[in-house]
Amino acid sequence: MKVFSEVEERLKDIERDIKKCKKCNLWKVKTNYVPGEGNENAEVFFIGEAPGKEEDKQGRPFVGNAGKLLNELLKKIGLRREDVFIGNVLKCRPPNNRDPKPEEIEACSPYLLRQLNVIKPKVIVCLGRHSTSFIFDLFDIPFRGISRERGNVKKVRVWNRVVYILPTYHPAAALYKPQLKEDLEEDFKKIGEILRRKKVSLLDFGIE
Ligand code: URA
Ligand code: SF4
Repeated sequence: MKVFSEVEERLKDIERDIKKCKKCNLWKVKTNYVPGEGNENAEVFFIGEAPGKEEDKQGRPFVGNAGKLLNELLKKIGLRREDVFIGNVLKCRPPNNRDPKPEEIEACSPYLLRQLNVIKPKVIVCLGRHSTSFIFDLFDIPFRGISRERGNVKKVRVWNRVVYILPTYHPAAALYKPQLKEDLEEDFKKIGEILRRKKVSLLDFGIE
């Protein structure tokens, strides 16, 4: 019998709650809930916007074309999907991939916050403007649009330590605008740099 760790148990509890959720209207039009998935010890937590068509079909995050690009970007910095955690702001697909509505974000985001509080990642990577503006709001960071914010790492204090927030473009955007792929690659390199930063500096404690 497999023994589950406490973190795994807590992640499964969240998943169970998501799978019976009716807090906004999206549960009626979805095929499957997409709770998110990944390594219970992940140091990096990726936040997308909402499931797309393929994700809705399979019940798993980033398994369509945007997901293929995400896998590729991860590989370039020496990470695999199994090493990280991948979630979305919304756990159900909005019809025709329309933008999330503010009331849907309000209803659904507590699940994402619970997942973050269980995983306690060192790096939070926000994919696209919706997840970036949600996370920036949470930490009272002013959001000036994704093209201005992308690639600028923010440091916040949470879980009694420093956590890095890296906003970047949504991989789906790069499927239509190849130029953005280079920007994404450049931003992803910063994830590797943060993870390699072993020595804790005074700057990491906000002492400048
Ligand atoms: N786009 C997202 O934002 N999330 C997914 O899971 C897939 C595509
Ligand atoms: Fe519940 Fe989120 Fe699905 Fe809305 S999108 S029904 S809040 S799980």
